[in-house]
Amino acid sequence: EQNEVTVRVPMNIALVKYWGKRDEQLILPLNDSISLTVDKLTAETTVRMIEGVGKNTVEINGKNVELSSNKRYQTVFDEALRLQRKRKEISDSNGNSTSISHYFQVISTTNFPVAAGLASSAAGFAAIALGIQRLLNLDDSQANRLARIGSGSACRSMFGGLVHWKKGEKEDGSDCVAVKTCDSNWPDLYCIILVFNDGRKKVGSSEGMRRTSETSTLLQHRIESIVPQRIDEIKKAYSSRNFENLAKVIMADSNQFHAVCLDTSPPIRYLNDASWHLIELVEKFNEEEGIRAAYTFDAGPNACVILQKKDAKQFIDLVLKTIDIPEDDLKLAGEELSETFRP
Ligand code: DP6
Repeated sequence: EQNEVTVRVPMNIALVKYWGKRDEQLILPLNDSISLTVDKLTAETTVRMIEGVGKNTVEINGKNVELSSNKRYQTVFDEALRLQRKRKEISDSNGNSTSISHYFQVISTTNFPVAAGLASSAAGFAAIALGIQRLLNLDDSQANRLARIGSGSACRSMFGGLVHWKKGEKEDGSDCVAVKTCDSNWPDLYCIILVFNDGRKKVGSSEGMRRTSETSTLLQHRIESIVPQRIDEIKKAYSSRNFENLAKVIMADSNQFHAVCLDTSPPIRYLNDASWHLIELVEKFNEEEGIRAAYTFDAGPNACVILQKKDAKQFIDLVLKTIDIPEDDLKLAGEELSETFRP
C-alpha cells in the first residue's frame, strides 16, 4: 500500500460568501456559497500515512503547527482512519478485525503568504483531503467531506473554475457537497490580491460565524431571500460571460457579508482604512468606462479584485499611483498577475 503522496491544490475566493453554520461539528453551512478557484495560488502538500504508533504532525511553510490549538486537523485524521477501517472491514472477508494503528505527517508549502490570511486554510485542508483521498482510494464525496470538516471553504477548492457549495438539508451532511458548476471556464478572468494586513487581531471565522448566527437579525434575511438569488445570478453572468452583472453581485455580496458582521453583537469589523480606500478606488474606476472591476473581502482587510485581462494593467497602475502600499507587495501582485493571479 502506498503511504506517501504529494498534491497541489489551489485556493478559492468566494463570490457569494459562506457565513454561519447549521452544524458546527460537521461544518454544515446555513447558506449555499459560490467561488472561483484561483489556479495558480496553491498549497503543495505531502501527506504521509505511517503504520504504527506516533504523533500526527503538520508543517506549513517550514513551521510546525501546534495541533492542540487547532483540533480540526485531528478531526480530519480521525475521520480518515475511520474511513480506512471501514474499507478494510469490507475487504477483509474473514471478518478479521485487527486494526493496525496509523499516524499522519503533513508537509505543506504555499506559494502565497499564509500570514495574509488569504483563505490559506481552504487550500491547505483541501490538499490534505485530496492527499488522503489518493492514499485511501476514497470517492469524491468522502474527500469533499474530509476537506469540509477541516475548514468549510476548503471543500470548494476540490475543483477548478466556478464551484457551488450546496448547504444541503440532511442532518448527516450527506447532501452538503461542493460541485463544479460551469463546464467551460472563463480564462480571461484575473484576480489581484492586495495585502493590507495591519496586524490587528481579528475574530476568527468560526467564532465570528457563531456570534453572527446568534445575534444578527439581518443574517436570516440574507440566507432566505438574498443568497439563493445571487447564486443564480452569478451562474448566469458567468456562463454568459457578462462581466458587469458578475461584478455587481460580487461587490454587493461582499458588502452584505461585512454588513452582517457589523450587525453582530459585539460587532465585528474586518475592513480597515486601506480596504475602504480600495473600495472607493474600484467604484471610481467603474464610473469612468463602465463596470470593469469587482472587489471582494473575506474575514480580514485584504482585498481581492476580480477583473478581465484587458483591464488589469490599467487598474494596477492606478492602484500604484493612489494607494499607499509597500511597492514590493504590489509589484509582486503586478508581476505575477500576468500569469499567476488568474482564477
Ligand atoms: C469569509 O471556511 O474559514 O472566507 O468553516 O469555520 O473553517 P470554517 O470557516 P472558513 O470560512 C470562510 C468564510 C469566508 C467566506 C467564504 O470563504 O465563503
